[in-house]
Amino acid sequence: MSANKKLLILAGDGIGPEVMHQVERVIEWFDRKRLVRFDTSEALVGGCAYDVEGAPVSDATMAKAQDADAVLFGAVGGPKWESLPFAMRPERGLLRLRKELGLFANLRPAVVFEPLLGASTLKPEVISGLDIMILRELTGGVYFGEPRGVATLPDGQRRGVNTQVYTTSEIVRVGRVAFELARKRRNKVCSVEKANVMESGELWREEIQKLHDAEYQDVELHHMYADNCAMQLVRNPKQFDVIVTDNLFGDILSDCAAMLTGSLGMLPSASLGAADSTGQRKALYEPVHGSAPDIAGKDMANPLASVLSFAMMLRYSFDMTEQADMVEQAVKNALALGVRTSDILQANTARVSTSVMGDTLLRELDKLG
Ligand code: IPM
Ligand code: MG
Repeated sequence: MSANKKLLILAGDGIGPEVMHQVERVIEWFDRKRLVRFDTSEALVGGCAYDVEGAPVSDATMAKAQDADAVLFGAVGGPKWESLPFAMRPERGLLRLRKELGLFANLRPAVVFEPLLGASTLKPEVISGLDIMILRELTGGVYFGEPRGVATLPDGQRRGVNTQVYTTSEIVRVGRVAFELARKRRNKVCSVEKANVMESGELWREEIQKLHDAEYQDVELHHMYADNCAMQLVRNPKQFDVIVTDNLFGDILSDCAAMLTGSLGMLPSASLGAADSTGQRKALYEPVHGSAPDIAGKDMANPLASVLSFAMMLRYSFDMTEQADMVEQAVKNALALGVRTSDILQANTARVSTSVMGDTLLRELDKLG
């Protein structure tokens, strides 16, 4: 059996804990089968952390996250905390984790599972076989740029400011991840910005092109404006392989790409830092969906995005390709059985709860392993 691996579980708010519980069952399954053992610990993040610890993520939790081999994250936020001052909002916990762990590369795959073809609002022929990777820069741009804030002007108006800012090194390091990912896929990168109206976008385009010409000439590179990319994603998404873009455009385009697949409840993500001298990267894995307060606590949420995020962890943090494939196959098999949470329900399928989806996954894992 492989050596113990340190995981920090931050289930968060809303449906976070119930979907994470299904991941914990998968972790226990691996343990029981003696395939891999994890040292897991848990901590609070988001609104629940604010309620108990007075901050959306405490310093003690940050220290645990720094010390972990990987962080598994659920979701944060809810109406209860919406009127808190900006610095105390649940989302700030997630943003602090991203920033202080240096998780600049956010991988958001959008893959269509064939049994779910009919769950998408797009025509089956447009999305059948779709497999694209959105690589979002995650620690820069307008999310963190200074100056920022709201000030009151002498005439009594208020003025809100956020700053879009990127440096060469920030662009190049995420560009490098994009080209490396493409080499393991279909060897195509589309770099997305608004170079037609933003200087930072023009810089982005130039730096990505330079990196390509210097080190990655074997990879096909295109540039696209973000508005056109949004349109192309719905018109003909299969033209893309890897899309690399900044923090804000990546936030928007990845939601769009997610819906191509039929449900936000299916989409995992990985957020990775730079490799250290031993090749290890800080990493956080989270479903793309949010905390869905409207269905929280009802045993209705789709746990598959969280389970698929766990599979990404096996793949990217621990190089456990075989085990990652096994988890992904179990998800595919469960879907092929016609088992569906309500977000992906279709004609002739059975609506099941979060926990029954978990039961099904474990049974499918049993058959595989
Ligand atoms: C995401 C979310 C976050 C973001 C929020 C919750 C801060 O929308 O991960 O896409 O905007 O990055
Ligand atoms: Mg988002």
